Amino acid sequence: MNYNKKTIRDVEVKGKKVLLRCDFNVPRDKQTGEIASDKRIVASLPTIKYLLENGAKVIACSHMGKPKGEFKKELSLAPVAKRLSEYLKMPVKFANDVAGEESAKLAADLKDGEIMLMENVRFNPGEEKNDPEFAKKLAAFGEIYVSDAFGTVHRAHASTAGVAKFLPAYAGFLVERELTVMGDAVDNPKRPLVAILGGAKVSDKIGVISSLIDKADTLIIGGGMAYTFLKSMGKNIGKSLLEEDKIEMAGEVMRKAAEKKIKFLLPVDIAIGDRFAPDCEKRIVDIDNIPDNWMGLDIGDKTIELFGDAVKDAGTVVWNGPMGVFEFPAFANGTKSLAKIISNSNALTIVGGGDSTAAVEQMGFADKITHISTGGGASLEFLEGRELPGIACLMDR
Ligand code: 3PG
Repeated sequence: MNYNKKTIRDVEVKGKKVLLRCDFNVPRDKQTGEIASDKRIVASLPTIKYLLENGAKVIACSHMGKPKGEFKKELSLAPVAKRLSEYLKMPVKFANDVAGEESAKLAADLKDGEIMLMENVRFNPGEEKNDPEFAKKLAAFGEIYVSDAFGTVHRAHASTAGVAKFLPAYAGFLVERELTVMGDAVDNPKRPLVAILGGAKVSDKIGVISSLIDKADTLIIGGGMAYTFLKSMGKNIGKSLLEEDKIEMAGEVMRKAAEKKIKFLLPVDIAIGDRFAPDCEKRIVDIDNIPDNWMGLDIGDKTIELFGDAVKDAGTVVWNGPMGVFEFPAFANGTKSLAKIISNSNALTIVGGGDSTAAVEQMGFADKITHISTGGGASLEFLEGRELPGIACLMDR
């Protein structure tokens, strides 16, 4: 995929109406509705400030959650407008409709260097269907379109791709940085390139494993999906997570890794529990000694050392997915230790995915990571080398 795209530096924005797609899909506290993490709002600031300082009229839009084409109060973007205006130290006018009359009125009143945000685009059923009529209605708000919603570029929706049929489309700085850093990491990496993949399911990660096996020097597999690989080697994995229908695929991946002579690492010891519960009994055992009724819930100390040694000499490290059941404190050690090792490495480091990012942030290491992707699904699909509709629709440089 070509990700050398025109950016907002390539166009005169002064006096222009800019339809800006952000990813303001921020987590909210279920009880209070408060924004639980405003990382994505902060990540959008460089582009917004650039547009405002250069005299654009910014009409921002985003989705939040999955309201399925209906208004849902708890998924309103009103709190985002408030938080954004605190960061920008200026009003962010908020329209309670999606590209409707109120949005049109606010947009018409915007002066150069002012910004408005319309309500959650997914309140309109046309958004997720990429309905051309809705895309046209949205596009009518801008003279140019800017995509800075990296987290959503894997969706072919009206506001992420459809609008680009009607407007010249540019990348914002967040999208540009994600494409450049992650693109270089996989296509032109400082070697050795060490890819660490975790998470529960082989099926969620098989695309990215298959793609990275052609690019990485070392592939490390941890988390729940490691047990399907161990099973394919003939190990007894007790009651650990297993995807029966992926055993063959796991064996195939290992054969390919051997053929390509890349280093392929799996856990050598694990933390097991007698049931899937935060207060279960815990033991650490070698992978050859998993009792029948126990399950693997984290990697063990020898594995942390093994994976850590591979990271020590790396030129580039790409990490996506937890090493164990990170939400159970007793089984978060593997993920946390790896977060620490990666943040201490001199390599170019890239972290993506909810739990790996949370581990790095909770431990206060975020500043030591070269790049934390704002995309979950989007960063995975990018690493898989898939065409992303929200990128493909932007103008090539
Ligand atoms: C995300 O949080 O991964 C993005 O905002 C995309 O959200 P979606 O999975 O609801 O499309």
